[in-house]
Parts: sequence; structure tokens; C-alpha cells
Amino acid sequence: MSNNYRIVVLLSGSGTTLQSMIDTNLPAEICAVISNKPDVMGLSRAQEAGIPTHVLEHTGYESREAFDHDLKGLIDQYEADLVVLAGFMRILSDDFVNHYNGRLINIHPSLLPKYKGMHTHQRVMDAGEPLHGSSVHFVNAELDGGPVLLQARLPVLAADSVESLELRIKTKEHLIYPTAITWLAEGRIELTDGEIHMDGKKMTGPVVMDYM
Ligand code: GRF
Repeated sequence: MSNNYRIVVLLSGSGTTLQSMIDTNLPAEICAVISNKPDVMGLSRAQEAGIPTHVLEHTGYESREAFDHDLKGLIDQYEADLVVLAGFMRILSDDFVNHYNGRLINIHPSLLPKYKGMHTHQRVMDAGEPLHGSSVHFVNAELDGGPVLLQARLPVLAADSVESLELRIKTKEHLIYPTAITWLAEGRIELTDGEIHMDGKKMTGPVVMDYM
């Protein structure tokens, strides 16, 4: 499989999501990992795998736009086909999002469009939801609002705590995110006018992988 599909990964933390990509035989090259926080485990994981890393600290910037401008400059040095958010704890400016239209993806720990935003596991448990999951989606200007490509869905168990639920969700994220990236790298997925097409056919909803 050729490796000329180029990915840049953005993260802010532990990088288990990045690790799942490193451990999968992706038909793509992870060209760089960029963190807005220094000394995070995600950077060590990248270095261990021989992937170039950069730290761009948002604290040194006066505005979101100025930070995003430099971030864009850094990413574009790598001529990325796809920018992958992997626990990148920043809201991105409209300019940034528009620049990467159709080639910027995120994984969000809920069954979008439900439970956008933070603390999803707690909120799902508080609401007594029977099902929870995670969604791979294209990023647009609305927070956690872009078209959803792939979801993992699983039951909330009576014995679950927030921690156990988060752990079970993460295990499935580590399967579906590399899968979605593989589909993109293989050229099977296109975003046109805000609609996802898979193998040339317009999708009417995300592909859902059930782990019941
Ligand atoms: C993941 O659970 C993902 O849903 C969310 O951020 C988390 C990142 O975890 N977007 P890690 O830093 O990769 O371990």
C-alpha cells in the first residue's frame, strides 16, 4: 500500500488516540504531530515512533486568530492531505476550519448530534441514556457540528462509572478512528457541499458500528 497520503495530527494530551493510529497499519504517513502543550505524553509517543513533533503554545498569542494563523503555517509545511484532531483541546477559528474544509476531522465522545461539548460521559449517565458512543466527524464552524462519518455505539451498563464508560468508549475510538482515516486515505470518502459521499454514493447518515 502506498504511503503518499499525508496526515498531520494535532493533540494536547495523553495521545492514546495517536497511539492507535501508530499501531494500525494505515495506508498513510503521519508526517507530524503538533501539540499546543509542552511535555505531554502524546509528544513522547510520536517521538518514540520517529514522527517529527512541534509544540506551538497558545499561551504566547494574543488572539485565537493569530495562533491559528501560525498553526496553519506549520501544518501546511507538511502539505497535509488530512488534519486529524486527536484530543486537541482548542476551539478553532472559522478561517482555520474553512481552510481545511473537507480535510479536517475530529473524534468526539458522544453519539452526535447528541451531547456536543464537554463532560459527555457524565452527562450521558446523568440523563440515564441506554446508549453512548463516539463519532468521527468532519469539522465545520459549528462546535462538534460537522457531518458525521462513522460512529461506535455501545450500551451504558448498570455497573458503569464515568471512568469505566470512558475507558470502554476509548477502546472503540481506537478502532473507528483508524478505520475512518483508512477510508479517507483510500479515497473512498468525499465531502461535497457539506454532504459525505462514500464510494461515490451520498451517505444518508453515519456508518454505525455496534458493540453490544
Ligand atoms: C478522546 O477520547 C476523544 O474522544 C477526544 O479526546 C480524547 C483524547 O484522548 N476528542 P487521548 O489524549 O488521545 O488519550
